[in-house]
Amino acid sequence: MCGIVGYIGERDVQQILVNGLSKLEYRGYDSAGIAVMEEDQLTIEKAEGRLKNLKGKLEQRPLQGTIGIGHTRWATHGEPSDANSHPHTDQTGKFSIVHNGIIENYMELKEELMEKGAVFSSETDTEVIVHLIAELYNGDIVSTVQSVIAKLDGAYSLGVITEYEPNKLIAVRHASPLVIGVGKGEHFIASDISAVIQHTKDVYVLQDGDLAVLMKDKVTIMKADTGESVRRAIMRVDWDVDQVEKGGFEHFMLKEIHEQPLTLRKTMLDRINKENDVVFEGLDLTPADFDKIYIIGCGTAYHAGLIGKNVIEKLTRIPVEVDIASEFRYRDPIVNDKSLVIVVSQSGETADTLAALQESHRRGAKVLAITNVPSSTIARDADYVVPTMAGPEIAVASTKAYTAQLITFYLLGIYLAQEKGTLDDLYRVSLVQALKELPMQVENILDDAYELKLFAQSIKNKKNLFFIGRGLDFAVALEGSLKLKEISYIHSEAYAAGELKHGSLALVEEGTPIIALITQQDLYEKTVSNIKEVKARGADVMGITLEVNVDLFNVVDEVCFIPKTNALFTPILSVVPLQLISYYTSLALGNDIDKPRNLAKSVTVE
Ligand code: F6R
Repeated sequence: MCGIVGYIGERDVQQILVNGLSKLEYRGYDSAGIAVMEEDQLTIEKAEGRLKNLKGKLEQRPLQGTIGIGHTRWATHGEPSDANSHPHTDQTGKFSIVHNGIIENYMELKEELMEKGAVFSSETDTEVIVHLIAELYNGDIVSTVQSVIAKLDGAYSLGVITEYEPNKLIAVRHASPLVIGVGKGEHFIASDISAVIQHTKDVYVLQDGDLAVLMKDKVTIMKADTGESVRRAIMRVDWDVDQVEKGGFEHFMLKEIHEQPLTLRKTMLDRINKENDVVFEGLDLTPADFDKIYIIGCGTAYHAGLIGKNVIEKLTRIPVEVDIASEFRYRDPIVNDKSLVIVVSQSGETADTLAALQESHRRGAKVLAITNVPSSTIARDADYVVPTMAGPEIAVASTKAYTAQLITFYLLGIYLAQEKGTLDDLYRVSLVQALKELPMQVENILDDAYELKLFAQSIKNKKNLFFIGRGLDFAVALEGSLKLKEISYIHSEAYAAGELKHGSLALVEEGTPIIALITQQDLYEKTVSNIKEVKARGADVMGITLEVNVDLFNVVDEVCFIPKTNALFTPILSVVPLQLISYYTSLALGNDIDKPRNLAKSVTVE
């Protein structure tokens, strides 16, 4: 969590840092700050709360210089406050650092430093690092940082500058992401590419254990523990600036919802050949090599996994288990060299998912990563990578990455079934054709959002809301409920429709809003019965169903129709109205849609 940026070159550093932080605010927005080498003196400005607070301070007193570091914080150790904001410095004020990660042994280091006279001005774990640097400084910042990180346990990406060596910016990566942007006569560091892309498309993706020394004209990368120099290839990023800007939409979330037809097309591109076979170039998976599949993810990615299980089991008859990443590693899972583990992560940096991947490797399993960031740690550590082509997702609430994960599971399910020989040719062709129609069908749903806006108005003041559905509809209900909670702050729960009567039905009373997903034709009558149960208790029900089910009007208060598709694929369509309902409810409430409270986009702490 947290975002870090840094710059060394000849341009006005304040503007570059603040601009970079605005792209990283999704990683945390409890506070922001920058440190700039003004002449040869370090000056720090920071402010609790959103970046605009820092901007306000900088308007009063701009910082001038051409080298500096910046940080946007998601609080872990110490409440959000000016004092706990980064950059941090020691009591001499000669060193400054920004940090993303957690120092696990900071308490013992802090005690040792305090015994030696260090005076701390924050409650953060980070501050020990800068005091250690000051204590161990030997006239060479590079070897000093090396000896400091040898003392640290935990995760840390760092940017370090010092008045003693004002021509250097030190970057360290260990278990938290960090890239270096390579310009002409200037270099950048950032937690993520989106913060440097407007300046350069050439980046080094640092690897764990790397230490980089950035100067105006050169970058040297070495192993932090030995100092041995290492070569990292420059990666050319093909995103453009427009992709990380709002493109005329009021919020990134709405923009990303509307990008789904395109991102679905992109994720399918080159993966379906002329014969309607699914192809994954370079993916050399033999289903006979494994007897069980595990799908692991967090939050929305976990919800995509629930759909993945359904699809893979139906098409291949290979048993699949789905796990929440933070639970998986602690439950002594029966994973072995006959297991295929599929980890799903938009960011590719989620700490729990990464830990699950590592645990799977320890137990001998092969790991396939479905991720939106091919340069991420999870992609690098996995044995196989299937990228989703959703492009940068900025809004904290995931939308286009989720549908890209779903379409990837569909393709993967068909691919595995082809390899295993469990898919009849005619059925495969009909599935692939239905897949190809999905982007257009999503477009149709997006074009007709008016009723959903009205519905959002009707629920905005409700205290509780329920989502119900059976089978795949239940998995989508979980995602719809998460989306609504996350950005509207309205309490909601998702229930398997048939399970309601076993307890939760007691919560339903006059006027309780319920969204019922009813897209699985074989379960239609069963779900209608469950809807009647809640209607009889006074609930107001909005049904989401296929356009062929016009008779649902006789059962519910409102209906949102989605186009007909293969039963396996309805989640990609039915989730879109749910995304829009969440968005418009949050808009009606005046919430900060792209940056909901207490959350961050990339969760790199356990
Ligand atoms: C919800 C949301 C989160 C993420 C989760 C995993 O809208 O975005 O639930 O899905 O934090 O993140 P990734 O996919 O980056 O591993």
